[in-house]
Amino acid sequence: MQTDNDLQAKIDAVADEILRSERVVVFTGAGVSTESGIPDFRSPGGIWTRFDPDDFTIQKFLSSESSRRKQWQVLREGGLFGTVEPNPAHYAIAKLESLGKLDCVITQNIDNLHQRAGNSPDRVFELHGNMQWVVCLNCGKRYETGEIMELLKKGVDIPHCEACKGILKPDVVFFGEPLPFQTLNAAIEHSKQCDLFISIGSSLVVTPAAYMPAYALEGGAKLAIINIGDTPFDSRAHIRIEGKAGEIMPPITERVSRRLCA
Ligand code: APR
Repeated sequence: MQTDNDLQAKIDAVADEILRSERVVVFTGAGVSTESGIPDFRSPGGIWTRFDPDDFTIQKFLSSESSRRKQWQVLREGGLFGTVEPNPAHYAIAKLESLGKLDCVITQNIDNLHQRAGNSPDRVFELHGNMQWVVCLNCGKRYETGEIMELLKKGVDIPHCEACKGILKPDVVFFGEPLPFQTLNAAIEHSKQCDLFISIGSSLVVTPAAYMPAYALEGGAKLAIINIGDTPFDSRAHIRIEGKAGEIMPPITERVSRRLCA
């Protein structure tokens, strides 16, 4: 069990590692957005405890209308169409960038909350895409998600392209789909080159995203993990903090800020 003193000591240790490091990479998963009201996937009550991930492969999405109906329902329920806001964890991560102590954010999330909290878009690598766009798989026409949200709100359960009636797909990576090549390569390079890799709110079980901490360790970086629950990398972490990202990241960034501005 982690005592308050242990927690404070670990928060100070992560902040001190950030201050000592030249290239800090923050890696995030769905756990960094749950305090914004977006459910994660594998916690109790998470998306994959209510839906079967096997229904959400790109093959199923293309081959079955019922899979497309479920997919749009998950995206609607996942709070990705609602008015979600960044939480203190997102703002604390963005502040590290403004303090000059963040090389980049590598995220598995598609909610755009790092950018909305203030991280520069060119320093956010979205391995699984971004829910801002919906694309027609037939003619390539792109729609802002808000337009499709209006259709869903009016009760349309499977939206189609208005231009060609083709299948519309959120511009995110489905199971069975390759990750965006350039984004993945950039994330691998930044992971290999960093000297501190901080994983926040990820179960670190889905590859190739979950290879990033391994690349960082191979490159000689220190690993810090902030998470509720265990991950397969805990034994290789130099610092592991059990707890909520929105409660742990702000004091880390505050300590960094105080020491830099002292
Ligand atoms: N603070 C810290 N950790 C949290 C919080 C929180 N507020 N809320 C949840 N967590 C933890 C959960 O306990 C879990 O260990 O965050 C982790 C989230 O893990 P997953 O739900 O597996 O999400 P993620 O790691 O992002 O999944 C990776 O799987 O289904 C695919 O494409 C999907 O990008 C996703 C990928």
